[in-house]
Amino acid sequence: MSTSRTVLVTGGNRGIGYAIAERMIADGHRVAVTSRSGEGPAGSLTVRAEMTDSASIDAAFTEVEAQLGPVEVVVANAGITKDTLLLRMTEEEFTSVIDTNLTGTFRVVKRAAKGLLKGRFGRVILISSVVGLYGSPGQINYSSSKAALVGFARSLTRELGSRGITANVIAPGFIETDMTAELPEAQQQQYLSTIPASRFGQVAEIAGAASFLAGDDAAYISGAVIPVDGGLGMGH
Ligand SMILES: NC(=O)c1ccc[n+]([C@@H]2O[C@H](COP(=O)([O-])OP(=O)(O)OC[C@H]3O[C@@H](n4cnc5c(N)ncnc54)[C@H](OP(=O)(O)O)[C@@H]3O)[C@@H](O)[C@H]2O)c1
Repeated sequence: MSTSRTVLVTGGNRGIGYAIAERMIADGHRVAVTSRSGEGPAGSLTVRAEMTDSASIDAAFTEVEAQLGPVEVVVANAGITKDTLLLRMTEEEFTSVIDTNLTGTFRVVKRAAKGLLKGRFGRVILISSVVGLYGSPGQINYSSSKAALVGFARSLTRELGSRGITANVIAPGFIETDMTAELPEAQQQQYLSTIPASRFGQVAEIAGAASFLAGDDAAYISGAVIPVDGGLGMGH
């Protein structure tokens, strides 16, 4: 059993974030989730936060700190897609995805960093995507935001690695959630045909990787990109 920590998961009201929060609770951690609407799983503290708004993120952290103590594990999970081909993509479609997925991660990790430094312990877990390094037509905005998280985690590792803080990236493949349910059936079948495991992933499989990275056994792992994609990305 790993040391019990205070964990904050962004976007923990559904999908992958919800499953990560559930797993962290089962692991014995104190768990808070941020949400814009709806609640995290039973046993978690739900706080409101909008990823594009630093003030709301600051207020969410302050509430979690007051109720559960300093945040020690941060899972930056909240994210969006606005898929379309480059020639049709508006600047707003590009910048809004970057603002939520990348700048939102910056806002969250920056707010967390002071507390992590003070406690001389931290686990930063960034939820990227296989398409960050693999590429995907129609996802120039999304894949750019997700590739950037690799540089983010590696720079953070170099900045804060000597203070007991690790920063790692999980790169999920195609996981069954609301995000992927929106894709047309033909596109889902096309993805399926390219996945060596020959099936889509489950949210619990991402939660398992997050659980490992938050646990005592992962203390010497930092700047890593952990693929959970049924072999789709292999080495990318
Ligand atoms: N599903 C996949 O196959 C897959 C694959 C690779 C990577 N990922 C990544 O995994 C993460 C979770 O994905 P998911 O499939 O679980 O997605 P999802 O079911 O669409 O859930 C997304 C979560 O992010 C929150 N969120 C989005 N924009 C936000 C904002 N501006 N401020 C605050 N919260 C915001 C949502 O809150 P609301 O409920 O309020 O909208 C929701 O909680 C994302 O970063 C995604 O890119 C997913």
